[in-house]
Amino acid sequence: MDDIEGRISSNKLIIPNYYLLTIKLSKPMERAVPGQFVMLRIPGGEVFLRRPFGIYHCEGRDLTIMYKVVGKGTERLSSSQGNEIVFVLGPLGKGFHVEKRDRYVVVAGGIGIAGVHSLIKRLNEKATLFFGCSSKEEMTLIEDLEHLNPYISTMNGSYGYKGDVVALLGAHLQTMKGNIEIFTCGPGLMLKGLKALIENDRVPCQALVEERMACGLGLCFGCVIETDDEAEPFRRVCKEGPVFDLWQIRL
Ligand SMILES: Cc1cc2nc3c(=O)[nH]c(=O)nc-3n(C[C@H](O)[C@H](O)[C@H](O)COP(=O)(O)OP(=O)(O)OC[C@H]3O[C@@H](n4cnc5c(N)ncnc54)[C@H](O)[C@@H]3O)c2cc1C
Ligand code: FES
Repeated sequence: MDDIEGRISSNKLIIPNYYLLTIKLSKPMERAVPGQFVMLRIPGGEVFLRRPFGIYHCEGRDLTIMYKVVGKGTERLSSSQGNEIVFVLGPLGKGFHVEKRDRYVVVAGGIGIAGVHSLIKRLNEKATLFFGCSSKEEMTLIEDLEHLNPYISTMNGSYGYKGDVVALLGAHLQTMKGNIEIFTCGPGLMLKGLKALIENDRVPCQALVEERMACGLGLCFGCVIETDDEAEPFRRVCKEGPVFDLWQIRL
């Protein structure tokens, strides 16, 4: 893990509020496991704490991040016209662990797709993707994954299944018997719903959890989540995560 200086080489608006940011690093980053993340210093210096982002794609000295504008830091990032200097600390945390299975199911909600994108790319045809979004417009986020024939749900019913992605998965889960594992990233409510859906069958599931972070290095304990483990009731999302066994964490 390194703190690498880079320059923003492109910051492309994909659909309103969602951007694909590419940074030209001054040197290649260490090879990352899908699910790991970086702490990015927002250009300009007005935003003091770094912000965590998943590694959407990284090749050579080019690092790409997909982000959604939600607050001060991402707002500032979205206004960058390029060539600004940023610092990238990473790769950080523990990513997804892929064991041999009959089938891999990936469940992503909205910008959660950014956290599982590199995993899907690695699994390729072995991945069955369930993507939940608010409207048809957000399908642009998975344009490069169309060859996987993803199952899609939209909250407003403008494409695919009308409703949330957990309900859509529920409609198909019984047809997916065998040695399957689910990988997921999305809003807290989606993770809760997913846990309830697969509780009876205790389907193996790894979840990428997002928490607000200050250091990203395990030092400040600002990102802890509760677990069911009496010996270790709290874990740091940045250090022991961000990927956890869904059955070990409290949501
Ligand atoms: C491991 C990890 C990977 C992530 N990967 C991505 C990614 O690939 N793309 C992406 O768009 N976002 C990702 N996020 C979330 C991203 O870090 C936050 O959206 C960002 O920090 C918000 O910064 P801000 O200054 O714009 O918003 P702030 O002003 O800090 O916050 C604005 C709003 O966002 C909420 N928020 C802030 N940080 C988080 C967080 N970490 N998780 C959930 N809600 C948060 C706040 O509660 C508030 O409501 C990731 C988070 C983690 C922990
Ligand atoms: S963000 Fe500091 S310990 Fe996790």
